[in-house]
Amino acid sequence: MCKKLLQCAALLSGAALLMACSPKSVSYSKDVQPILSKNCSECHAPGKPGFDASGLDTTSYGSLMKGGKFGALVKPGDAFTSALNMLVEGRAHPSIRMPHGKEKLAAADTETLKNWVNQGAKND
Ligand code: HEC
Repeated sequence: MCKKLLQCAALLSGAALLMACSPKSVSYSKDVQPILSKNCSECHAPGKPGFDASGLDTTSYGSLMKGGKFGALVKPGDAFTSALNMLVEGRAHPSIRMPHGKEKLAAADTETLKNWVNQGAKND
C-alpha cells in the first residue's frame, strides 16, 4: 500500500515536471502580433523605412508570412533557420539585427517568437 502510494507520487511529480518544461502553446493574435506591433511595425509597414528597404510588412499574419524581398521570414516548425528568429536573437550579422538600431527584444519575447515558429507558426 505504502509502496504504491510512493510510486503514484513519483509518477505525478514526473508529469508535473514534463508539463512545466514543454513550452505553452503560443497564439499569433494574443502573443506574437503584440510583440511585432510594439517592436517592428513602426518601420515595417507600407510607407515606413523598414518596409521601403526590405519589403517586409509586419502588421498582419499574411504579410509577415509573405516576407520581404529577401524571401520568407518564417519557416513553420523551424525557428533555428527562420530569418525572423535569427534576426531578433542576434544570430544574423550584427548590422541587420532587428529591431534596427534599437535595443534587442526581451528574452521572453524572443522565446515566444521561437516557440510560435516551432509550434508551426499558426494563425490563431
Ligand atoms: C527603426 C526601424 C526598424 C525597426 C523597429 C525594425 N526594422 Fe527591420 N529593417 C529596417 C531597415 C531600415 C531595414 C533594411 C535593411 C537594413 O538597412 O539593415 C530592415 C530590414 C529588415 C529585414 C530584412 C533583412 C535583410 O536584409 O535580409 C527583416 C527580415 C527585418 N527588418 C525584420 C524586422 C523585425 C522582425 C523587426 C522587429 C523585431 C524589425 N525588423 C524592426 C528597419 C527597422
